[in-house]
Amino acid sequence: MEEVRNKFVAIKGHINGAPSESDFEIKTETISLPAIRNTSKEYYVIVKNLYVSVDPYQLNRMKAQSSSQSAISFAAPIIPGHAIDTYGVGRVVESGGRSDLAKDELVAGLLTWGEYTVIAAEEEGIRLLNKLDADEALPLSHYVGTLGFSGLTAYGGFYKVCKPKKGESVFVSAASGSVGSLVGQYAKLFGCHVVGCAGTQQKVDLLKEKLGFDDAFNYKDETDLNSALKRYFPKGIDMYFDNVGGEMLEAAIGNMNTFGRVAVCGAISEYTGGGRGASLDMLDVVYKRITIQGFLAADYLNCYSDFISTTTDHLRNGKMHALSDIYHGVETVPLAFIGLFRGHNIGKMIVQIAN
Ligand SMILES: NC(=O)c1ccc[n+]([C@@H]2O[C@H](COP(=O)([O-])OP(=O)(O)OC[C@H]3O[C@@H](n4cnc5c(N)ncnc54)[C@H](OP(=O)(O)O)[C@@H]3O)[C@@H](O)[C@H]2O)c1
Repeated sequence: MEEVRNKFVAIKGHINGAPSESDFEIKTETISLPAIRNTSKEYYVIVKNLYVSVDPYQLNRMKAQSSSQSAISFAAPIIPGHAIDTYGVGRVVESGGRSDLAKDELVAGLLTWGEYTVIAAEEEGIRLLNKLDADEALPLSHYVGTLGFSGLTAYGGFYKVCKPKKGESVFVSAASGSVGSLVGQYAKLFGCHVVGCAGTQQKVDLLKEKLGFDDAFNYKDETDLNSALKRYFPKGIDMYFDNVGGEMLEAAIGNMNTFGRVAVCGAISEYTGGGRGASLDMLDVVYKRITIQGFLAADYLNCYSDFISTTTDHLRNGKMHALSDIYHGVETVPLAFIGLFRGHNIGKMIVQIAN
């Protein structure tokens, strides 16, 4: 029987503020090959992880308590010392008797922040593991973000939650990030007027010069977000794609047009407990008849094939750009993760675990 060593990332204890490297540890376990038979539940699938996703929502799973943890199985609490599941792309080492998977085939689904993922038949994650028919003209890493859950989030959030009409104005926060950079590009292709905000001048330049945003600004340079938005949207905002919550959400509500829509994708400024929660002017919401809708990417799985075909076409034709920030090696996962909360990434934060 062959044995492989598997290095994986775990949290040492619950994280209730901003994460730091000392909150994490790299653990090692031994996995026996071929797959260990589980007599009651038939099989284990073993996947060698190639690219894994690094996402802000994981921080809410690492807290001792968060309202998100009981909402959906993806957001279940992370147990200190245990492997951490995440979306990713890998190669099948053992198909574990699953007839739809073969050794060496590429798969996408719920993997781990580790070198290997071992999935038992009864685990919910097994249902999400699917053969990946990757377009060879595109980098494999695209399937972790742009053609994975970040992309579906942007697509579902923009087309289904914002319900855009041509010529309307869109404001996107965390606009150079994984989801935001795609929302802005979908909105431009659709025929909207798009303004984004981001945390550095380099990011602002990229939004305007590479991604085709009509305008962009560095929110850290603004002392009054409300008047900044008035400047960038003299005729008001029709749709706000909110990735950050907090004070930016307050300012956006203050600048919305009648019957405006707010797609609440995330609230990263509130995850670390550093910023204050949004306190909305509810009279604005009432009198301007603003729709504020939270959503999850999983709500739009029924759009998945449309999303993949549309986005793949745009990428192949050069109409969209997929931005990725790729770290290398399982040991870099904590650094990559922490970087999300410090604005270090441009585009999708990914760790390449193996070639
Ligand atoms: N609803 C869903 O299904 C779903 C799915 C995926 C993601 N999300 C949410 O969408 C948002 C974006 O996720 P992502 O994966 O695309 O991450 P991302 O935007 O690629 O990375 C996070 C970015 O957020 C910005 N940021 C960090 N702390 C901030 C703060 N205190 N205030 C303002 N901006 C801050 C930073 O950019 P700057 O330099 O601009 O500050 C950072 O680069 C998150 O809130 C996430 O939880 C929701």
